[in-house]
Amino acid sequence: MPLADLREVAQACAAGGIGLGAFNVVHLESAETFVAAAARAELPLVVQISENAVAYHGTLAPLARAVIEIAQCAAVPVVVHLDHAESVDLVHEAVAMGFSSVMFDGSKLPFDRNQETTAEIVQYCHERGVAVEAELGEVGGKNGVHDPTARTSPSEAARFVSATGVDLLAVAVGSSHAMTTRAAVLDTSLIAQIRAAVPVPLVLHGSSGVSDAGMRAAIAAGITKVNVSTHLNVIFTGAVRAFLSRNPTVVDTRKYFSAGNGLVDAEVERLLRWYVSPVGLAALAVAPGAWG
Ligand code: G3H
Ligand code: ZN
Repeated sequence: MPLADLREVAQACAAGGIGLGAFNVVHLESAETFVAAAARAELPLVVQISENAVAYHGTLAPLARAVIEIAQCAAVPVVVHLDHAESVDLVHEAVAMGFSSVMFDGSKLPFDRNQETTAEIVQYCHERGVAVEAELGEVGGKNGVHDPTARTSPSEAARFVSATGVDLLAVAVGSSHAMTTRAAVLDTSLIAQIRAAVPVPLVLHGSSGVSDAGMRAAIAAGITKVNVSTHLNVIFTGAVRAFLSRNPTVVDTRKYFSAGNGLVDAEVERLLRWYVSPVGLAALAVAPGAWG
């Protein structure tokens, strides 16, 4: 099936009051694992490749081509998304490769510059049928320094969305990237205010730091796309450490990757189901077949 359109999937989830899991692909096996979990859960999924992951691999194309192939073979709608791109050239490369959506992250830029650059990206992407997520109010933690204090202003968010035509908006509401504990406290009242002020689905970055109950409250308040990466790395690495300490002579990387991915697979399925409960998939305004 062709890649799913993030606008359609996210708008359907937002209308139904449910969350949409978006997980970061670090290795090729991440994509295989996430798609298998989504297929079992029979839920749509966003797989995303960040600019940092591109830097790790040295180039976008090899990993992206494989991820797109895995997504196209999936039994459920899968969006392939470029995450946290600060480079306009990387956005252009992803669009040319067939990504169905991109995030342009201008959150470190002054408001006007972020708005202006995002608007240019939106025009470029929309002309090519690609959805755009942008960020307003910098969610900290990507540099290892946790800062949950940044906040997105509802009135600025409304102005930004209207001026740029962006399809989804990432907001700063108390999360911080790369947390290895799930202790973040979200401002659900601010989420509800922003949701009421803007007509597009909202995205929560740094969702690894949010507890199950906190995430359910955030979705009820108006978050749709739920970005998770570190939490899965914690699970993967813990499983690999345990496997290697039990099997100190193993050198076949597939053996310990399988141990790590087995637990990630179960957690992704659980999270995907959690994000749609207790409302349930039936609340979606668009039938799953229409997302294709
Ligand atoms: O864009 C990716 C996410 O915001 C992941 O953040 O690693 O803190 O879950 P996280
Ligand atoms: Zn993020």
